[in-house]
Amino acid sequence: MKISNETIEQRRKSAIDDKTADLLVKQISHELYNHNLYRTFANYFAVKGLDKLETYYIGRANEELLHHQWIVDRLDYADVEFKYPAVEAVTNPIKDNVDTFSQTLDKEIETTQLIYNIVSSAKEANDWETFNWLQETLVKEQTEEEHISRKYLKIAAQEDVDWVTKADTILTDYESAQAAEGQQN
Ligand SMILES: [Fe+2]
Ligand SMILES: [Fe+2]
Repeated sequence: MKISNETIEQRRKSAIDDKTADLLVKQISHELYNHNLYRTFANYFAVKGLDKLETYYIGRANEELLHHQWIVDRLDYADVEFKYPAVEAVTNPIKDNVDTFSQTLDKEIETTQLIYNIVSSAKEANDWETFNWLQETLVKEQTEEEHISRKYLKIAAQEDVDWVTKADTILTDYESAQAAEGQQN
């Protein structure tokens, strides 16, 4: 089999092509932004005295830190040298309680599309290691992140339910889903 010099040169250095590596480094910034956004929502609910929603958003934020760590581990393992990217400040106004849930869902939809873009780049480069790794980690994770974000937005938007009850329903469901996920892994 004839392997191009370009492939040999690239893989002597690292296992991920420059374009895909660049997208992965940018994704570090997006995941850290998501962490900061969810911490901002946690603060919003802490100030409102809705402690269970504060706890819920701290949980979501911690997941974002984990997603960022997955990417860093993958880049390290593939011998990609990089510097930590800038993270945009959180400036979006929060209109009301329900708005945090709408913003969360929209952010997760955007995150899924950013990850699909990295999948496409890995596919284009015939980088099946990164392609598979993405399916097992970030792609799979986004299925869950979007699902729970849609579900909790519906609960948050219910007009005839008080916020203490909504907070309790959301946190209880989230914690049991996280525990079930932990058992699988
Ligand atoms: Fe994430
Ligand atoms: Fe998750």
